[in-house]
Amino acid sequence: MTVPEDPSEPPVAQHPQPGLDIVRTVSDLRRKIARFRREGHRIGLVPTMGALHTGHIALVRHALVVADRVCVSVFVNPTQFGPHEDFAVYPRDEAGDATKLAAGGAHLLFAPAPEDMYPPGDTCRVTVPGLGDILEGAFRPGFFTGVATVVAKLLIQALPDVAVFGEKDYQQLLVVRRMVRDLHIPVRIEAAPTVREADGLALSSRNAYLSAEERAIAPDLHWTLTAVADRVSHGHGPADAEQWGGDTLVKAGFTTVDYVAVRDGESLEPWAGPPRPGRVLAAARLGRTRLIDNVPVP
Ligand code: PAJ
Repeated sequence: MTVPEDPSEPPVAQHPQPGLDIVRTVSDLRRKIARFRREGHRIGLVPTMGALHTGHIALVRHALVVADRVCVSVFVNPTQFGPHEDFAVYPRDEAGDATKLAAGGAHLLFAPAPEDMYPPGDTCRVTVPGLGDILEGAFRPGFFTGVATVVAKLLIQALPDVAVFGEKDYQQLLVVRRMVRDLHIPVRIEAAPTVREADGLALSSRNAYLSAEERAIAPDLHWTLTAVADRVSHGHGPADAEQWGGDTLVKAGFTTVDYVAVRDGESLEPWAGPPRPGRVLAAARLGRTRLIDNVPVP
């Protein structure tokens, strides 16, 4: 629905947060969403952990195309961080996030407290065995259980028509799709393409951890994956291409390479070649920062 412009209204730029409401409890979230529904709107949900950048805002834009009211959750989810991971220092900037969401056209920001998301005594978890245990799941045990659990909670709390996830976290997108299918959660999951810096580096809240020297090396992750995808599309064997990709990343200056993997784009099983869709996925460390990326096999 478009609202006709009212000349007596001040221009939008004078309102730093024109249409954005902020709610912090599940009951307030449900009240707002119920109101949107009474008004006949389709609801879109964009789950995030905040420290928002242009990649997140692209998901909001995508949601605005397929829904009339867009809710963005900002919650740094403790259950998806390992004991030695960056939960405590993960960047948090709610005021900045709210300003960016308002400018991006979102309608509702849901920023729950940990006690609301995980009530005292909470023990239920959602696991996605198989798909959630390989690649990222193998290097970050429990990660996808944390993700699937919080996404299931968010979907049940908001009951949106559609939820949007980025291809940047490709395995996460597939895990969420599998969870929604297996649990019969009535929501459509949409994928939005990865937003990159001009030099190819995928936008990520964790890029803020990179030193200037590491930042200069980081785009090689994308270019190496693109070259691996090119190799397999020209008939090189996946195992050779993966080995070449790992060696290339180490030569470029990456500290360690967790994996470079050529996989089926739907199951993440080893790729059987065309006509199956192929995906090249990787995770590598630059100093203390772990970067992930993926590209399709052309
Ligand atoms: P977060 O890392 O904040 O990412 C939120 C959403 O933004 C995810 O769907 C992610 O894939 C997408 N995204 C991040 N960087 C992107 C980029 N450069 N281009 C396009 N999309 C991008 O992913 C999570 O949070 C959490 O695991 C969450 C799903 C919120 C569960 O806690």
